[in-house]
Amino acid sequence: MLNILIVGSGGREHAMAWKIKQSTKLNQLFIAPGNAGTSLLGTNIPVGVSDFDGIKRAVIENQIDLVLAGPEVPLCEGLHDFFSSDEQLKAVRFVGPQKLGAQLEGSKDFAKEFMMRHQIPTAKYLAVTSENLLEGLAFLKTMAAPYVLKADGLAAGKGVLIINDLLEAEDSLKEMLDGQFGSASSKVVIEEFLSGIECSVFAITDGKDYRILPVAKDYKRIGEGDTGLNTGGMGAISPVPFADEIFMKKVEDRIIRPTVEGLRKDDIPYNGFIFFGLISCGGEPMVIEYNVRMGDPETEAVMLRIKSDFVDLLIGAAEGTLSEKNIEIDTRTAAAVMLVSGGYPGDYVKGKAITGLDRIENSMVFHAGTTQKGEVVCTDGGRVLAISSYGENMKEALDCSYKNAQLIGFDGMYFRKDLGFDL
Ligand code: AMP
Ligand code: GLY
Repeated sequence: MLNILIVGSGGREHAMAWKIKQSTKLNQLFIAPGNAGTSLLGTNIPVGVSDFDGIKRAVIENQIDLVLAGPEVPLCEGLHDFFSSDEQLKAVRFVGPQKLGAQLEGSKDFAKEFMMRHQIPTAKYLAVTSENLLEGLAFLKTMAAPYVLKADGLAAGKGVLIINDLLEAEDSLKEMLDGQFGSASSKVVIEEFLSGIECSVFAITDGKDYRILPVAKDYKRIGEGDTGLNTGGMGAISPVPFADEIFMKKVEDRIIRPTVEGLRKDDIPYNGFIFFGLISCGGEPMVIEYNVRMGDPETEAVMLRIKSDFVDLLIGAAEGTLSEKNIEIDTRTAAAVMLVSGGYPGDYVKGKAITGLDRIENSMVFHAGTTQKGEVVCTDGGRVLAISSYGENMKEALDCSYKNAQLIGFDGMYFRKDLGFDL
């Protein structure tokens, strides 16, 4: 029986907490910092994800046996390394890669070089800094529109620009290098544009073996028909009809296995999740990006479809015993619909009272950005709640989430009503 600490505070962490709570291997559950939803499943600890000393105190005080890192930021900052090098923490099981492996998400250039080295299918690219700007501008001229420019470092999902006009792309390249995204864009990756439909594939690995989690599709744009600004994600559906057995076999053979083997060959220790952001180009999977964590809101659909004991998988990843663990997947569909604050992803107001949470039937409500104020649950972010449901098919799962979404209310609430339109 383990005491488990989840680091993070979003819908992803709430969904993981919900799944972990069902495990027979759990003793006590803690979430740092968590939100109003996670407080119903475990004990929230008011410590931020980058406060390593605060996390250390929480781990010691609560005799934590296993830490699960939700978001990428503490991993890229070296939270796992901090544990490995601390006498009091090094025996604690940790799920999430060390700083070096986290570079797969923390540096686009690192990820691209890794893929080239291991012949993993991805778009052609060039990494540009102020030193080789001229080469970058020449490379742009050799490409056809649209032009894809990516800040090398973490930019909270905002560091990718897709530009139709060459002159504009040239200007943007210079602006990025001049600090448009701070130090994250002091290096820029210029990439060939790939067209196709995207999906999110997840694996959990101990660095030797891996298990593939349910595949999902997320909806990043704010507007219906995939229009308007990018968001953290407006909803997710799992499984994804086009990611059928044939497609997934290609993904495993060409992408997942070569990635795990590549990490070994490169001596990059890695235990935790790998999120493959893929695009299907006429049925051929290509990697758009790696993330070193689960997706959000994909997790709010994926957790519903994992039938096996999730803690057992986490133990396998942390201890290097994943070869002994099985993953069983629910054949039903799961859909998560995100309710967001009016104005998001632009400016929005927090602190709006949420009503109707007690009226939900047959759905799970995962809190993404909420806080408890006395008796009232209030909005505390752009993405507020994910309503997740099962169905025998996509329509049934979405209908159930939409029906429940109508019962929830807060000032300015918005959600997309067309999820799944492209599947
Ligand atoms: P990323 O942060 O790398 O996932 O990029 C954000 C989004 O930009 C992706 O989900 C894609 O929709 C789009 N994108 C990124 N790279 C490419 C590419 N090479 N071709 C087409 N679209 C891309
Ligand atoms: N849903 C995409 C992400 O978590 O990055």
